[in-house]
Amino acid sequence: MIAGAGGQEMSRGKVLVTGGLGFIGLAVLKLLARHGYALRVLDSLSPQIHGQVPDVDRSLLAGLPLEVFRGDVVRRDHLAECLSGVDYVVHLAAETGTAQSMYGIAHYNRVNSQGTAELLDWMVNHRHSIKKLILTSSRSVYGEGAYRCPSCGIVTPDSRRAESLAQKHWEPLCPICRGELQLIATPESSRSCPASIYAATKLAQEDLTRIACGSAGIPYTILRLQNVYGPGQSLTNPYTGILSIFSTRIRQGLHLPIFEDGLESRDFVHVSDVARALVLCMETARVDGKTLNVGSGIPTSVLSVAEMLSQVVGGSSRTELTGQYRVGDIRHCYADISEIQAAIGFRPEISLEEGLADLAAWVTSQPLAEDGLDQANRILTERGLMK
Ligand SMILES: NC(=O)c1ccc[n+]([C@@H]2O[C@H](COP(=O)([O-])OP(=O)(O)OC[C@H]3O[C@@H](n4cnc5c(N)ncnc54)[C@H](O)[C@@H]3O)[C@@H](O)[C@H]2O)c1
Ligand SMILES: [Zn+2]
Repeated sequence: MIAGAGGQEMSRGKVLVTGGLGFIGLAVLKLLARHGYALRVLDSLSPQIHGQVPDVDRSLLAGLPLEVFRGDVVRRDHLAECLSGVDYVVHLAAETGTAQSMYGIAHYNRVNSQGTAELLDWMVNHRHSIKKLILTSSRSVYGEGAYRCPSCGIVTPDSRRAESLAQKHWEPLCPICRGELQLIATPESSRSCPASIYAATKLAQEDLTRIACGSAGIPYTILRLQNVYGPGQSLTNPYTGILSIFSTRIRQGLHLPIFEDGLESRDFVHVSDVARALVLCMETARVDGKTLNVGSGIPTSVLSVAEMLSQVVGGSSRTELTGQYRVGDIRHCYADISEIQAAIGFRPEISLEEGLADLAAWVTSQPLAEDGLDQANRILTERGLMK
């Protein structure tokens, strides 16, 4: 244990949050503490996220009733130490870089798939009092989102072909008639069709959880998160978190490189909305056994979010359409959030404008990180994963 229990045992039970010192983990810990839970964290303090000398923003942890174990979710002995005596498990620990996963295949599989397998293996083979497991999956399991074809109805296209991308044909076409498509919100019932190794490991986490918890009678809920942003996102990890990466570049006066034609879109959801959805799901038996989307339910193009961010952070950075693309990236996906709304009454509360202002205020209060994006993109180009 590297940090001591900062508070007394509370009556609502103890929650183990794996990966709890990461971006979403910190927001979840704060909310769980407000709800009266005792907290335990298992986190490896991965250097890519926390720096070579781990530097967790201590102001984000101050006063929490928290035990922190530095350890690895793939290690049975570490898991055993952390799992005994807990009432809930929130499993966040993962490697999260989509592009990096395309060449870090065994490592991503080990941390994400094997880590989840070890966790479930312990839960199935030991006596425990765990009331529920929450797994954070990702919208990446869908691959391309859902679309409507005027002739063929609702379709889910395959990953875009290398030849189409090379010709700068960015929009996916109807898999049936090859006609143009209209984007629609992606519901949970949409087929899963991972386009990256990261996505494949998130889908493996889901399947392992459904099957193991289902057969052992352990309640669980799986949350498919869209693009989460907000205070606390790693400013040093160049492989994930487009808005924190861009914030650092804006502060350094560097241009913002935008892939494709900038009109690719994502569903940006503020971390406090995600933490609220997660804790509500942990506390609501009605969502046991369910897989639910968590997002804003609104698509925003990467070009426009970069321009909005540039305005709120300030400075003179310009967006630059590079026309490049990355293998494994999807074109569009935004969440249909009607199921989680109906199940627990969840609605996102933070608009993109408010959320970006909040992100900018936090980023500008942090030490200026080194920008690793150019270096990360060079690695991808050398490997033929960015063109
Ligand atoms: N941030 C997003 O936009 C987003 C979107 C969809 C899903 N998710 C999922 O949410 C979860 C949390 O993501 P995040 O954005 O907070 O990521 P993050 O990288 O900020 O946090 C992950 C944490 O896990 C820890 N970790 C990594 N490998 C570990 C290991 N082997 N053992 C123990 N700890 C380990 C890291 O040190 C880090 O503190 C992940 O499962 C991710 O796949 C995130
Ligand atoms: Zn069609």
